[in-house]
Amino acid sequence: MSTAHNRIQVMHGVNLDMLGRRDPDIYGTLSLTELEREVSEMAAELGLQTRFFQSNFEGEFVEELHRLDGLADAILLNPGAWTHYAWAIRDALEITALPSVEVHLSDVDAREDWRKLSVIGDLCLARIKGKGVDGYREALERLREELQ
Ligand code: DQA
Repeated sequence: MSTAHNRIQVMHGVNLDMLGRRDPDIYGTLSLTELEREVSEMAAELGLQTRFFQSNFEGEFVEELHRLDGLADAILLNPGAWTHYAWAIRDALEITALPSVEVHLSDVDAREDWRKLSVIGDLCLARIKGKGVDGYREALERLREELQ
């Protein structure tokens, strides 16, 4: 694989910085820092480079997406609750024109009805949910396949 096409931007949205304090039955016990470490190790095993970003501010998240031009080849994103209603994030993701995969730690389709809607779903190659950290590995593999 060309090294010019292996840069994965990992984007976590609102409240994901609270992992470790959120319900462990739903989200597991890892903190965001621990999750990011695992993702970066899994990515390295797959020959991928990672950059991480998290924000609780929608505008900052949008601006980070704007900044990705030339910095990333693909996006793995878990926007948290924004997934379900943040149309501005959808527009910003579309502007990046980068291959993207949506990941959720929990099974959003098996929870409240409002979590079933994803405003970014049709822009993403895949929506991986309910597999915890393993879902991130699956997302990295899917993006790697796309970049090859
Ligand atoms: C989440 C699912 C969302 O519905 C929720 O608002 C989150 C986390 C997940 O990873 O399971 O904050 O994206």
